[in-house]
Amino acid sequence: MRMPNLAVNICGVQFKNPIIAASGTFGFGREFSNYIDINRIGGITVTGITLQPKVGNPPPRIAETPSGILNSVGLQNPGVDYFLEVELPRLLTYDTGIIVNINGTTIDEYCKIAEKLSKYPIDLIELNISCPNVKEGGLAFGAHPDMVYEVTKAVKKSSTQPLVVKLTPNTSDIKETAKAAAEAGCNGLSLINTLIGMAIDINRRKPILANITGGLSGPAIKPVALRMVWEVKNTVDIPIIGMGGAMKGTDVVEFLLAGATGVGVGTANLVSPTACIDILEELTAYMIKNDIEDIDELIGTLKI
Ligand SMILES: Cc1cc2nc3c(=O)[nH]c(=O)nc-3n(C[C@H](O)[C@H](O)[C@H](O)COP(=O)(O)O)c2cc1C
Repeated sequence: MRMPNLAVNICGVQFKNPIIAASGTFGFGREFSNYIDINRIGGITVTGITLQPKVGNPPPRIAETPSGILNSVGLQNPGVDYFLEVELPRLLTYDTGIIVNINGTTIDEYCKIAEKLSKYPIDLIELNISCPNVKEGGLAFGAHPDMVYEVTKAVKKSSTQPLVVKLTPNTSDIKETAKAAAEAGCNGLSLINTLIGMAIDINRRKPILANITGGLSGPAIKPVALRMVWEVKNTVDIPIIGMGGAMKGTDVVEFLLAGATGVGVGTANLVSPTACIDILEELTAYMIKNDIEDIDELIGTLKI
């Protein structure tokens, strides 16, 4: 059989395959370029960017859990200006999609970052209104449909690139926040961000994370993520980047069947720096084995 076609179109942007490094787990790709050919990945979502540099939360900020990790990194990053001057030019030398994850504490901050980005050849903007590890912004926007609508509408006006809104699972009904983002004019959705959790050290009788709570990611959250992708797919008619616990090629197939057009790979990058390429090769092998010539034969084809 010939090599299958893995190319996908997300919000009008062509990606060579659906594998997308998830924000916060791939940095700006620097460290990973020592291990893999970054040109082979469909896209890279850079670590969450804020208007000013941010040191993040105090350590410890990672705790292992059964089938997952809790993190409370808190958006440590060098700020949008440094990103545009130093990191973006290097990222643009790669033949891969570039998605920039933006974060603010006010709507105005989100808009200012989007305005700065609008002059650069970035493929998609990912509006992160779902970070569970910051005191201001993050979930204060993402958990409530009316706030989701307001921030999405404002950032859409300030940006020239297609806008993907990253949804939180920490809300009573993700269909409502998905609808609000779509009504406000976003071009796509990404889901899910991490689930709020905590870990306890019984000897010290203290939380393991200095921030007390953190965001749970990895295989433990895959069933929740799949359910939410499927629910959102049946609610709004815009492309979805699905993520949450994708560790191997068959996990990606599950997300595609549930309705995702792209699939984010996050925690897997922390287990192995070659994860994105390994997963891509497993997906390709699955397609060849099952005589699937085009990735479109998988997307949204779950039989109910
Ligand atoms: C260490 C770490 C840092 C993260 N930082 C960000 C971030 O800056 N912005 C964001 O939108 N999501 C962030 N996330 C969430 C991931 O992008 C992803 O949505 C989540 O981890 C679920 O996917 P996974 O189970 O494949 O990791 C982070 C996750 C981890 C584990």
